[in-house]
Amino acid sequence: MAGKAWGGVFDEKTDARVEKFTESISFDSRLAAVDIRGSQAHARMLAEVGLLTDDECRQIVVTLDDIGQQIARGEMLWKTELEDIHMHIESALIARIGDVGRKLHTARSRNDQVATDLKLYVRDALTMLGGLLLELQRAFVERCESDADVVLPGFTHMQRAQPVMAAHYWLAYCEKFQRDRERLADCLKRVNVLPLGAAALAGTSLPIDREVTARLLGFTAVAANSLDVSSDRDFLAEAIFDLSLIAVHLSGWAEEWILWCTTEFGFLKLPDAYTTGSSIMPQKRNPDVLELIRGKSARVIADVQQILTLLKGLPLAYNRDLQEDKLAFFDALDTVQACLELAPSIARHAKLQVATIEARLEEGFLDATTLMEYLISKGVPMRTGHEVVGRLVRHCESQRCKLVDLPLSELQLACDKIEADVSQSLGVKNVVARLSSFGSGGRIAVAEQVAAWRERVKR
Ligand code: ARG
Repeated sequence: MAGKAWGGVFDEKTDARVEKFTESISFDSRLAAVDIRGSQAHARMLAEVGLLTDDECRQIVVTLDDIGQQIARGEMLWKTELEDIHMHIESALIARIGDVGRKLHTARSRNDQVATDLKLYVRDALTMLGGLLLELQRAFVERCESDADVVLPGFTHMQRAQPVMAAHYWLAYCEKFQRDRERLADCLKRVNVLPLGAAALAGTSLPIDREVTARLLGFTAVAANSLDVSSDRDFLAEAIFDLSLIAVHLSGWAEEWILWCTTEFGFLKLPDAYTTGSSIMPQKRNPDVLELIRGKSARVIADVQQILTLLKGLPLAYNRDLQEDKLAFFDALDTVQACLELAPSIARHAKLQVATIEARLEEGFLDATTLMEYLISKGVPMRTGHEVVGRLVRHCESQRCKLVDLPLSELQLACDKIEADVSQSLGVKNVVARLSSFGSGGRIAVAEQVAAWRERVKR
């Protein structure tokens, strides 16, 4: 068992199939850079408390840099028998500097090491994702300017409801992505608690100083219970959930645009660069990218299921099950990252088909609710107003006309509170001028939000 870091107690060689079954190097090699960062900080702390000399520490830090570069160049040979990234890097260190390298793992276990690596990795990943979400928000805010005068029908139950400014639609997604960014930032609070120093599960009798390690690695606090630390993957479950909600938001947007690109809607034209053709139907321009953004959300949702099921029923401290945690996180991360990298270009380059939208904008009684509110402002009880307008809509449907087409006398027959000023509450243009409550889709309220958002996403 000479080759194994933990081989001392063993007489027999590990079965080759067991090595293959238990390895994680095939998926945790991407932790190399953070593993090295963590080890360098650990070595510096060991030197500070006198467990390494300054020269030993220097040798370790410099050699780890070297190993990091070798890995980055793709020159490290991954070996199943070395199990994981931690063993690969430590054995490369020992191969180069011998006994000094054999001191690095002092007062440390792979249990607190892997938890630390993951937190460093997740921290970088969440920061990167926050940047991608901001870029997508910028794309939507730019659309507010280019589509400044466009009015869209708003839908509930996918049925025409009330009109809103197009910018209101863009900013609705900005709000969702803002909450996503806030969730990532909040998750970072719990990521930023240092596991290292918990050692295997009980801490150590050696005089380590975890505050030093925390400071060197940019953690804001030190985990206070060594038994909790090596089993704690709450931060990972949270991060994956946060990713799943981003994926869910993206999938709703994708679904909407897939509908908008249909001949039936005709609201939107996607740029050629983001559509694909059919192998048999020459006329097709398919929204495959949007369909895959919608479809890939399924994987991220499954990743939430995987991490929670993995953690369910695990007794305290490290259990090997935890090795599988990385698969869920990396999959969720890669999937959401790929979607977020494509989304801003699609958002920027899709063209609203304004003529088509406007041609049918007066259909569907988008002004019915505002007419009811006009009645309320004239002292009619809400429920009565609702009934009056409902009857008027039914009348229009039978006459195949719009509310705005009805002569004043006919409106007054339905309700004697109606006066000539009713015309200012009818028709889509008037409606978006009248919607004025904070957060509404009306022209002035939306303009205020656009101004605020422009500030928020400013470079
Ligand atoms: N490869 C392992 C993981 O990803 C590292 C920790 C192994 N610890 C142990 N005691 N076997 O979780």
